[in-house]
Parts: sequence; structure tokens; C-alpha cells
Amino acid sequence: MATSPIDSDSIPTNTTQNEHFQSVVNRAVNRRGFLKFGSGAAAATFLAGPLAACGGSSSTSSAPLLGFKAVAASTADTVVVAEGYTATPFVPWGTPLFSTGAGSTWSGTGSETAADQARQVGDNHDGIHFFPIDGTSSSEGLLVINHEYSSTVNGGYLTLFGLTPAPANSVDRVNKAINAWGCSVIHIKKDTAGRWAVVVDSAYNRRITSATPMLLTGPAAGDDKLKTSADTTGTEVLGTINNCGNGFTPWGTYLTCEENFNFNFGTTVSPGTDARTDAMKRYGIMSGATAYAWETVHDRFDYKKEPNESNRFGWIVEIDPFDPTSKPKKRTALGRFKHENAAYAFTKDKRVVVYMGDDQADDYIYKFVSTNAYVEGNQRANATLLDSGKLYVAKFNDGATAGDFMGTGEWVELNISNAAISGYSTYTFTNQADVLIHARIAGDAVGATKMDRPEWVTVHPTSGEVYVTLTNNSGRTTANDANPRTNNLYGQIVRWREAGSDAAATTFEWDIFVLAGNPTVTANQGTTKAGSSNVTADNTFNSPDGLGFDRFGRLWIQTDGKYSNTGEYANQGNNQMLAADPVSKEIRRFLVGPKECEVTGLAFTPDNKTLFINIQHPGESATGKSNWPDGGSAMPRSATVIITKNDGGVIGT
Ligand code: FEO
Ligand code: CA
Ligand code: CA
Repeated sequence: MATSPIDSDSIPTNTTQNEHFQSVVNRAVNRRGFLKFGSGAAAATFLAGPLAACGGSSSTSSAPLLGFKAVAASTADTVVVAEGYTATPFVPWGTPLFSTGAGSTWSGTGSETAADQARQVGDNHDGIHFFPIDGTSSSEGLLVINHEYSSTVNGGYLTLFGLTPAPANSVDRVNKAINAWGCSVIHIKKDTAGRWAVVVDSAYNRRITSATPMLLTGPAAGDDKLKTSADTTGTEVLGTINNCGNGFTPWGTYLTCEENFNFNFGTTVSPGTDARTDAMKRYGIMSGATAYAWETVHDRFDYKKEPNESNRFGWIVEIDPFDPTSKPKKRTALGRFKHENAAYAFTKDKRVVVYMGDDQADDYIYKFVSTNAYVEGNQRANATLLDSGKLYVAKFNDGATAGDFMGTGEWVELNISNAAISGYSTYTFTNQADVLIHARIAGDAVGATKMDRPEWVTVHPTSGEVYVTLTNNSGRTTANDANPRTNNLYGQIVRWREAGSDAAATTFEWDIFVLAGNPTVTANQGTTKAGSSNVTADNTFNSPDGLGFDRFGRLWIQTDGKYSNTGEYANQGNNQMLAADPVSKEIRRFLVGPKECEVTGLAFTPDNKTLFINIQHPGESATGKSNWPDGGSAMPRSATVIITKNDGGVIGT
């Protein structure tokens, strides 16, 4: 989500006085070390372990990890991809999944009803994953896509109801928005010409919407704070919302992550009177009317009428794409916050770890460690792994030396037995379910490190090192080593290695992989705003967001930032996708999106010869800013893009 009409992730809701770890005023930045960041002694020490030895690194493989020619920044209303590659738009918003009945045709004008929308591909594509149909196929599978939200301008929906912006001023319009969000499960297959196509009418095709019944599972299920007048058991919710990034599990399920759910909860009851609890404020629930207007039709989105309904959102939801009748499950053991994505790893004894970021300025990074171990082939046992375990929040400490962009860290368990939580003066936790429902506040209680908007997390395929995008934080006033710039316009990528290279560890060491910046702005030169040494005039970008390793160890970076191409953002162009070598730290621009879009989500076929990404909200600010992908005078539509190499090779080579 690049911008919001009503609030912003850039505005912290974290009003605690937690130190931005060791608050060191007027710390002298070690500029010499910083400028040598990519090859300095400190970085070499950090890389002396498993990562440097892994086969995917540029230093040990025969072919360079990054084989493509970099593309220039672009402001064109098209997808620009590296020479020798082809980018093909696929399954845009409104694509029919069935050949008969409601939604079986796309009008081209957005005139579809709520019933039509429930059977068509949803809006604002984000996270994505490809599940091979047989576990190994690279020519047929299930593509699962998140539909995060719908763009609004001036209190109206930009395109959802037609070619000109319009408000959700009827029951059907609100329900159309509800049906445009959630996820799509789409059976796709290569045709005889080798082109990917939707298997229309496949029994696997499914829309999961913001009204689809789903279960709350795990330690908080059934808790009083999850009960509503429609669900007195506290175990069944209608829908998933603000499905941002994603994850997947080794047992073949999809994880969809509920992010900005707060923007869907407001009130029509005396909307000038703010009746929110402090906990609601910590989660950013709206005090009055919302731009989406769902509360005008459904009481459950009105916090004064149903104060617990918002507690039922902000979770990670597990979906079995191969069982179209299965109920998605909201896994409460993973905590409730504004989830960006989910990246799994195994502990040495095969328990499952899920790394997660909370995308808000000054919020936290978390990990879940399951109680039980993964059992290869035992899907029944694996199906409940995410229901029992420990939830931790991260502290990033400056380490032995301040100002060197590296340090140490610790994972603090969020458990009611911790006196800092049970005795927290700001909020009284009633039980462990409450700790999970209000994980942010538990993080406050234990003094977790306020980060620069944690976005996607990804785990290196062989070293197990974990990388996270911290997209930007213009409001930061106190710097520390992991979040080293006040007024952070450009963002950074931080990585850590768990102690003993075991994902179960409770301590880690970390460093900054890249400090994004703009060296083409004269005033930035010689300052940290120029970025670290692996940022150049040729690859300059801002606001890293989507992030993922491919199985060869290429780090793919996607941006959701400022696309003005002027001032602080001169020469950066539209939002883009880059690839990095984790050892040499080289970063190369691979693709640029159309106007006013964000580039997000990535999924590969097992042979790594097809890459699926998403273009979200092209032309998001006003009518006529973009006509991608249909061209002419068509309204812009979010869509997947299929990337292939013209010689049939592996993506990135
Ligand atoms: Fe939906 Fe933080 O991006
Ligand atoms: Ca340090
Ligand atoms: Ca994002």
C-alpha cells in the first residue's frame, strides 16, 4: 500500500518511551566505515560464516549470480524488463474464473456487481505463490494471489465502480468492495504454445473474500475478546482483509497476511466522538468514518457497535489451496499486528519458525517457533504446527561499537509469565490470549526495538540468514545502528544470523545489507542520504518493500515508494524490482513498473524459468494517470506479470 487517503503507516501509533535501543545523542557516524560498507573489514567478519561458503554466492559459483544487463530508471506507463526477457500481464482485476453465471465476462468498465466480483479476480494484487499441481510441475499449478485493498481518492473508490471515482453509497457497492478483497486461487496451465492461461471452470478456482467464513485457531481462539454478537464462540470470522504480503509452508499451504485492517473499522454513531480504547488506538482503528464505508452497511465494522470485531483481524491466515472447500484458518499463535509477510525456516530439530514484520513506523519484528517438529509427509500433523508455539519480539542492539551499522540482538518471548508483561502499567493483560491479541502492546512492555516500518522478511536458502526490508520512516527523530538515519526517506535492508545458525536461537548478530539512498542528489553526497557503497547512480531506489530469495540465493528487492522522479527522488523513476548478490552486495535493477504503481509479490516455478510478480495500483492518484495494462483510454488495473527469459533460461541469469 503506497498511500492511504485517511491515515498512513508512516504515522506511528507506538507512543511508548521505549528507547530506539541505546539512544545515543550526537553519535558520530563512522563515515569511513560506512562508505566502505560493502567491502570493509566489519562486513568481511560478518560474512566469514556459512553465507560466504554457500554455493549460491558470486565468490564460489562459476557463473555470476546476476547475469542480466541492468535497466535504466523509467517513468513510462509500461513494464520495462531487462534485455532478453519478456514481461506479460496476466489475470488483471476482473478476470473471470468461470465461463457461465455471475462474473463470467469482464465489461471493461468496472460495472460488475458484488455477485460478479465474487467470481472474478480481485483488486490490488500483492503477495503471490505458485503451487505446482503435482508438487514439481513448472507448467501447471495453482497461483494464489492476495488482493490487498481498493484505491480511493477523495472519499470515493478510484476504479472499483467504473471509469470515474465513486463512493460506496449502496449495499451492493460495499459488498462489491468486500468481494474484491481477500485472495484468488487460480488454476493455471501452459497451453500448447507454451503460454500460461487460466484453466477456466477448474474446481480449484476459488475466491476467498472479506466475507468468506474462516476459523480462528490456536491459543486465543474462543477468548472473550474475540466474541461478537454474531459469533458468541469467538471461533468463526467472516473474511480476511488487507491481505498484503504472503508466505507459504513446506506442507503446501499458503499464508496470507492481514495488514492495514484498522482502516476498515470506524463508526457511524456520533462520528465526531472518539470512543476508541487505548488498545484500539495502538492498532490505529479509525475514530470516525472510514474511506471504505463498510461500517455504513455492516455493523461489524462499526467499533462502537461491535468493539471486538477488529480483534478478529490482523492475523496470519493459512489456506489450503488444494482443498476448495476448506475453511481458511486464522493462526492466533502468530500474534496480531499489521502483518506484512511471513517467511518460514526450520530449527535444527525441525520445528517451524515464522519470521514476521509489523508495518508501521516504529513497530517491531517478530518470530514464532512451533512446539512440535515438522514431519515430512505427515500432513495431518503438520496442519496444526502453527497452532502451538512461542512468539518472540526482536531487540536490535548496537553491539560492541556504535555507528558501525552492525550489532547484536535478542528475541524476547511474549508470555504472560514475563513480569514486564503481566505487570505492565499501561495495559492490563488478562491472559496469554490477550498477549497474542495485543502483541504490539506486549512488545511495548518488553522494550522491543522500534524499527523503520518492517516490510517483507526472507530467509537465504542455504545460510539461513534472514533479511528484512525497512521501507522508510520520515518521522524518526532518534537514530540507532539498525535504523541509522533520522528522517529516513529511503529505507534499508537489515539482515541477521541466529546464534549457532539455529532459527530457534534467542540471540543473533546483524548488519545492514544496504542503506538505500540517492547519490544523484548533490546535497546527499557525502552524507548517509547517498546510501551505502552498493547504491549508485545506476541502481538508486527508495522504499524497499517486497523481498525474496530465489533458490539460487539471488535476493530480489521490490519497491513501494515515491515515484515523483524529482527532488530527493530524482533519477529513481517509477517503482521497480532489483536483484542483489548477498556476498558481493552488488544490486542491479531488473524491472521497472508502470506509472504510480508498486511492484510487489514474487513467486517462481520450480525450474525458476517463470517468475510471477504483481503490479499494484497503477495510476493510483487520479483518473487518467495510467492506462496499464490495457492501454488506450482504459482504466488502470492491478495485475500479475509473467516474466520469462527469451532463451528459456533461469530468471536472473
Ligand atoms: Fe501492504 Fe506494508 O505493505
Ligand atoms: Ca554497532
Ligand atoms: Ca508491502
